[in-house]
Amino acid sequence: MKNLTPMMKQYMDIKKNYEDAIVLFRLGDFYEAFFEDAEIISKILNIVLTKRQNAPMAGIPHHALDNYLKKLVDSGYKVAICEQMEDPSQAKGIVRREVTRVITPGTLIEEDLLSSENNYLMAVAFRENFNTVFVDVSTGELFVKDFEAINDLIDFVSIVNISQIICEENIFDELKDNLPNKFIEKLDDWYFEGFEDKVKETFEIVSLDHFELSNEQLRVLGALLKYLEYTLMSNLALEEPKKLEESKWMILDSKTVDNLSLIPGEKGKNLYDILNKTKTAMGSRLLKKWILQPLKVKKDIIERQEIVDAFFNDRLLLNEIREYLNGIFDVERILTRLQYGKVSPKDLISLKNTLYIIPNILDALKTNEKFSKYIQEIEEFPEVVELLERALYDDPSSTVGDGNVIKDGYSPELDDYRNLLFHSEDKLKEFEKEERERTNIQKLKVGFNQVFGYYIEVPKGQVKNVPDYYIRKQTLVNSERYITQKLKEFEEKIMSAREKVEILEKALFDELTKMILKYVNDIKKTAEKIAELDVLSTFAYVSQLYGYVKPEFDDEKFIVKEARHAVVERYVSNFVPNDIYMDSLRRMYIITGPNMSGKSTYIRQVGLIAVMAQIGCFVPAKSAKLPIFDRIFTRMGARDDISTGKSTFLVEMSEVALILSKATKDSLVLLDEVGRGTSTFDGISIAWAMSEYIYNEIKCKTIFATHFTELTELSDVYKGIKNLTIEVEETNDGIVFLHKVVDGVADRSYGIEVAKIAGVPDGVVERAKEILEVITKKSELEKKVRVLKEGQLRQIKSRKKAVEGQLTIFEVNNSEF
Ligand SMILES: Nc1ncnc2c1ncn2[C@@H]1O[C@H](COP(=O)(O)OP(=O)(O)O)[C@@H](O)[C@H]1O
Ligand SMILES: [Mg+2]
Repeated sequence: MKNLTPMMKQYMDIKKNYEDAIVLFRLGDFYEAFFEDAEIISKILNIVLTKRQNAPMAGIPHHALDNYLKKLVDSGYKVAICEQMEDPSQAKGIVRREVTRVITPGTLIEEDLLSSENNYLMAVAFRENFNTVFVDVSTGELFVKDFEAINDLIDFVSIVNISQIICEENIFDELKDNLPNKFIEKLDDWYFEGFEDKVKETFEIVSLDHFELSNEQLRVLGALLKYLEYTLMSNLALEEPKKLEESKWMILDSKTVDNLSLIPGEKGKNLYDILNKTKTAMGSRLLKKWILQPLKVKKDIIERQEIVDAFFNDRLLLNEIREYLNGIFDVERILTRLQYGKVSPKDLISLKNTLYIIPNILDALKTNEKFSKYIQEIEEFPEVVELLERALYDDPSSTVGDGNVIKDGYSPELDDYRNLLFHSEDKLKEFEKEERERTNIQKLKVGFNQVFGYYIEVPKGQVKNVPDYYIRKQTLVNSERYITQKLKEFEEKIMSAREKVEILEKALFDELTKMILKYVNDIKKTAEKIAELDVLSTFAYVSQLYGYVKPEFDDEKFIVKEARHAVVERYVSNFVPNDIYMDSLRRMYIITGPNMSGKSTYIRQVGLIAVMAQIGCFVPAKSAKLPIFDRIFTRMGARDDISTGKSTFLVEMSEVALILSKATKDSLVLLDEVGRGTSTFDGISIAWAMSEYIYNEIKCKTIFATHFTELTELSDVYKGIKNLTIEVEETNDGIVFLHKVVDGVADRSYGIEVAKIAGVPDGVVERAKEILEVITKKSELEKKVRVLKEGQLRQIKSRKKAVEGQLTIFEVNNSEF
């Protein structure tokens, strides 16, 4: 670049500071990208790449910015928006331009760029632990959480909607390797320095003790705040950080979330979709948080349950509240936009309409004494409603300054200018009519453009009738354009009124948002309570709709009558309910049964019922009593983890290792087909040994579905291990799955019958039967198809008996043996 124009020089100066971002440079009605940036955006956005003095450039029309931004950010780019900081028509020389916002996936607040879900940005540093702080800037929620191991961190990131990670340099590579598809950025050291002042200043606190955070946590918080300042470039609108402590919540790892299909993911049908009959966006976000974080403290669960119960038993109140909730907007986000100075007139109308409804909600709640806590916590904001009612048109224009936002009567000064403006436009119409009549030019028109302002346009054919006081300004192909003295006078009046209206309306709107700013924190608290009511009333609603029952909690017993799978029952026509019965004497089950009989469904429904109970919801059953679990472990299916290139078996074993090392007596362990990924003998051995370990050492409630019939022998050795199977009816036409869980062991595997049902050709099925007969005879197996010989099994069992004898010496009081 030899001769840079002054504007290109300005561009280069700005770009220098944003090397890692695509800079969109406002120029007239376009945002332009140059050089490499232009090549990237033209490819991603599929727009034309042009050249100017050999510089590649590509532009986006300014009104379509949000659309294109979304694509760029989704494709993993960081975008710096460079705006004109003064009115080009007023500017002397080159217009001042500055970057006003850096857009990244984790720092979106623009309504159009967000779904209704939470969107988190996470900051990570490592000292002794992985310290993380994560924020949803669109709602202002801020959380602090430490992880001991990188795997726990990775796991968390994959469940929660974390769209961007920023981290210290020393862990960047490790994070990138483990999360290849995440938008991860490393931060310079200075981000992590001087955090004390940054935190104090942001939250306006005098002492850091206020948050009860460790120095490491504060360091990361400081870095996050600096990053937000760099991207958002405005005052931060954040809530106080909340510590996520394990002591309050059940732990669910990503595998379990996936295996139990708790939230939408690759598997489609899931618990969230079944339960999500919430009425508000805030409620639907809260529901998802609750599902991913079931409670562990009985008092907390009961508190939710009592509200659900109150709604459940008061149908009138339930339906009335749900009707009111229909009118509640996403005020959490609206208020955050207000704090960032990006609220629209429509937003404020939505806020007003929401606040209008609160008294109705309160009146309804007052009819039932169970809601006294909510009645206290939900506030009304009559001053805000009154102010908004007085200040804004009900259907305001989206452009503040065009005179259609602030209501008549709110500001006499604005009204005067507005009358003048709107009146002048009428006058202009009149002028047009008069000129037509005077000149007899029927096609005469008054128009406007940026260069000449108002003009009179006359078609070429009628130019001969133009009076001599018309001053010609422009010649077009088919017409001529003129001005007159009178027109110019109008123009001045209109322009000055328009300008006044614009300035005044903008000022009034700003002032209005400032007045509301005072109330924001209180309104947000009320909104939070309303979101809770939304979820709790939804629990009651869904429980009525689908016939759920209120569970009780017990220290030991897990007894559910006629339990159902909340998701599967919605998609099969005749779901067969099954009981769950576990206590200290029956704390491990081995389920055997043919493929497709319902083993996996049964195991998952046990897990789902535990989750549903601990989030405060009712459960699909006739009656339910269950313990509170500290964690649910699942090991299911056999899928290769293609993304990390680990084999099925390795994945399976690492999950088993996790269970064996982390499960406690209060955990629930659900195992489906463990040991399938290796040879039969290895598989049986590992499954047997781990079952023993869980039973003897961990002592937690466990259900294990398997096709290794050998494992059913465990029940002969250990009193607390029982066998379950699923009934199959043999008819002349083949077999029928009854999906009924009963005590006992599967007779045989019915693999060939299943093959037949699946449509394997008759010839193959017949041939398989022949072969089975031969093999069964030849290997002298008994009715059960098994791999180990009777004698071998006896050996294993007797050795375990001996070990058990030793154990009982230490556990004399354990009556189970
Ligand atoms: N209790 C039930 N009532 C009705 N249908 C069921 C039930 N359990 C399972 N099914 C049906 O059987 C299919 C197979 O169940 P699944 O649990 O995967 O069997 P398995 O694990 O024994 O192979 C399910 O997709 C479902 O359609
Ligand atoms: Mg299965």
